[in-house]
Amino acid sequence: MCGIVGGITTKNITPLLMDGLKRLEYRGYDSSGLVILSQDNKLLRERAAGKVKNLENKLKLVKSKLEGNVGLAHTRWATHGKPSVKNAHPHISKKSISLVHNGIIENYIELKDLQMKQGYEFTSETDTEVIVHAIDHALKSSDSLLKATQKVIKTLDGSYGIGVLSSKYPDQIIATRKGSPLVIGIGDNGNYVASDQMALLSLTDKFIFLEEGDIAEIKLDKITIYDLNDNLVERPIKTSKLKIAQIDLEGNDHFMQKEIFEQPQAIRDTLESRITKNSVVIPAFGYDAEKIFQKIRQVQIVACGTSYHAGLVAKYWLEDIAKVPCNVEVASEYRYRNPIFLNGTLFVTLSQSGETADTVEALKTAKKINSSIISLCISNSAESSLTRLSDLNFLTHAGPEIGVASTKAFTTQLVALSLLVCSIGKLKNTINIKQEKKIVDGLRRLPGLINNALLQEPQIKKLAARFKDKNSALFLGRGTMYAIAMEGALKLKEISYIHAEAYPAGELKHGPIALIDKNMPVIAIAPNDELLGKLKSNLQEVKSRGSQMIVFEDEDSKVQEMEAMEVIQITSNLGRISAPIIFTIPLQLLSYHVALIKGTDVDKPRNLAKSVTVE
Ligand code: G6P
Repeated sequence: MCGIVGGITTKNITPLLMDGLKRLEYRGYDSSGLVILSQDNKLLRERAAGKVKNLENKLKLVKSKLEGNVGLAHTRWATHGKPSVKNAHPHISKKSISLVHNGIIENYIELKDLQMKQGYEFTSETDTEVIVHAIDHALKSSDSLLKATQKVIKTLDGSYGIGVLSSKYPDQIIATRKGSPLVIGIGDNGNYVASDQMALLSLTDKFIFLEEGDIAEIKLDKITIYDLNDNLVERPIKTSKLKIAQIDLEGNDHFMQKEIFEQPQAIRDTLESRITKNSVVIPAFGYDAEKIFQKIRQVQIVACGTSYHAGLVAKYWLEDIAKVPCNVEVASEYRYRNPIFLNGTLFVTLSQSGETADTVEALKTAKKINSSIISLCISNSAESSLTRLSDLNFLTHAGPEIGVASTKAFTTQLVALSLLVCSIGKLKNTINIKQEKKIVDGLRRLPGLINNALLQEPQIKKLAARFKDKNSALFLGRGTMYAIAMEGALKLKEISYIHAEAYPAGELKHGPIALIDKNMPVIAIAPNDELLGKLKSNLQEVKSRGSQMIVFEDEDSKVQEMEAMEVIQITSNLGRISAPIIFTIPLQLLSYHVALIKGTDVDKPRNLAKSVTVE
């Protein structure tokens, strides 16, 4: 979604803001803008539609004019009002207050009606503009920018991460959040605010993570924070372990490519200190995990997008290996129904970012229904709304994932989930010591197996050429491979804009077979498991309808090549846990190479955002 970066410093802030915007661009990017307070206290603003580069080009033309020590910048992902210069942030009221906003203000129409009566003129179609006018109005009866903003946020329904600056208060920036993340960066030459720490990594490694409802007054030499009840609070300063190199391309063409090839290391990092020679380290899920897992009677998993697919794989594992019933649901559905769950339910949220609005709200919904529910969050972000709300946390240690299409976050989530399954199974005696050791050995072999699967890239690249003129593709799998097929289809749609659907192969004859012809490639995932025979029959059904087929198999699957069918051996014969992880790799590579051929923006596909912080 949108990205915010701002600050107050002893230096010219414009280049710092531009650097931050570029690092935030992966979040949302249909327009961008910045505002600077000039030496003579005037608000200077520049905005551009499209990529941050367009803003950069505009700035080159006005370079000498946009200098100052205080400023705010924003990359926008449109919700209310189409992507355009006039809808881009920052917004300004009465030439004296400027504001950037992430989130959605749900009562903006009623606020807008009121403000129009008060004489405010609207220059955009956004919901955001009401906040800046409201602050201007509130300032008339407040003696500080902080107090005016405090008054205004109490009138807002919806979610927000906000940065405000005013020419009347040139020594400060106000930052406040509810439902949308904000972090304060403490640097040597200034203090900053951003929607995620990545934007500020070149300036500092010291961060304060604002909590829900917090509001901060950020000055050059002082940061003051109040909670949602206006009480003065202290929030801890944390040192980030993220390194700037981790968010650079390091010689790769795309972040997605870099992240696909980082998977062996990401999995090694995720496993580190989570397994011993023969067993899984249950306290890796939290101090109380052992006690909690023993009492579990059911698992409810809630997530969105790729993370949801990881949950679907885990359902098969949990019921098969740990013998615990498991439901998996997309968060946007879960949060709006009246779900029922048994006492003893472990509520698991899966989220790369830990900030996906629907997943956060789904957890809150569950807690409202039953306050004694035990929640576990598996995420890739140490400081996030979900980690703060959850009783147990497991960090995947995949490192920053910048490509919008999730890759290493997914496979490390699967690793985390396999450890969860193994832990619960062990505590419930559904697996014995020998079986536990087998799972742990299998996990340890994963990085090497992924490296082998990555070696198939040249072959997969050749196959990608077949998709150049295709409008649709069908992915087939059975068991956990159905979930992997869903993930493969999602990857292809996301970055190559080819319509793709996944079906459990057994469902083929209940509909999708009607679509199959030579223009609809079918991709099947065929490990040698107990369902292989059935899958082979399904492939025959497809073959008879003239489809072009690609089959990814393991060395024991022995799928017979036929005319118009390409069979690629990805790996050796694998166990239940390793197989879905390894078979994800060729699907990632396939979608990456199809996207290259189609010439799409691989890392920043149109209309998508990395972290969906609005519903
Ligand atoms: C967006 C991203 C996806 C991601 C999904 C869930 O749609 O583009 O890649 O899977 O959000 O994000 P989360 O951070 O909760 O895993």
